[in-house]
Amino acid sequence: MSDVDITQFKVKKEPYYQPVADEVELYDAAYAARMPMMLKGPTGCGKSRFVEYMAWKLGRPLITVACNEDMTASDLVGRFLLDKDGTKWQDGPLTTAARMGAICYLDEVVEARQDTTVVIHPLTDHRRTLPLDKKGELIEAHPDFQLVISYNPGYQSLMKDLKQSTKQRFGGLDFDYPKENIETEIVVKESGVDGDTAQKLVQIAQRARNLKGHGLDEGISTRLIVYAGNLINKGIAPVAACSMTMVTPLTDDPDMRDTLNAAVQTYFG
Ligand SMILES: Nc1ncnc2c1ncn2[C@@H]1O[C@H](COP(=O)(O)OP(=O)(O)OP(=O)(O)O)[C@@H](O)[C@H]1O
Ligand SMILES: [Mg+2]
Repeated sequence: MSDVDITQFKVKKEPYYQPVADEVELYDAAYAARMPMMLKGPTGCGKSRFVEYMAWKLGRPLITVACNEDMTASDLVGRFLLDKDGTKWQDGPLTTAARMGAICYLDEVVEARQDTTVVIHPLTDHRRTLPLDKKGELIEAHPDFQLVISYNPGYQSLMKDLKQSTKQRFGGLDFDYPKENIETEIVVKESGVDGDTAQKLVQIAQRARNLKGHGLDEGISTRLIVYAGNLINKGIAPVAACSMTMVTPLTDDPDMRDTLNAAVQTYFG
């Protein structure tokens, strides 16, 4: 048995999430079918916020795991610990979620090694089981359990990608930076700046997104626009706020910085 208090994983307050298409309906149906889901999209476009919102809407606890290449299967599934009374099994986050009927969100799952990723296989097909090999236990997933992974297209190399046998266990939803009017609304709600300022910030970012692949690895994310809005809301001048959030973190290339700063100047100079 697990002695984890599941209430800590409840999403208590409704997260603000602005739908951009029909992703909420599609996810509702996927959850109703208990289909494992893969959320694809660039950094800072709303994937994590969407999962929090859906967990809240569905009334399920949410257990998020940030994956990395040092992560082992035991980090997900659990391990024996030694204490003064001997050995004690401790469930990992995936096991806790499967037992409790939570939504388990594996963030940046591509970062995990393939031998780690395969532990999700029996959970993501008709079996819906999780073998705890070291403990000699086979868990049947709770009927409400669902697995969600995030995937950032374009970051993969041939060596580092999910196997087809992993990919083909999931339904997929594409995410991207929202259209101008929706993104402006998000920036207003999230940062508290006025609509006019938010729109300018969004227009700078949307322009700069055209530089992706032409000197920039990634476009300016919705997250960074919200950062800019936050600083402006704290009284920082827009040019300084934009440079700190929408230029400096993105690139070290002096020419590219000039280009971005010039774009900021056309709106706020
Ligand atoms: N549709 C949306 N509704 C509300 N807020 C949003 C939306 N999209 C983006 N945001 C804002 O952008 C921020 C970043 O979003 P989020 O953390 O969900 O990105 P992500 O896609 O999970 O990024 P990463 O891949 O880097 O983890 C949020 O904190 C929120 O302020
Ligand atoms: Mg995220």
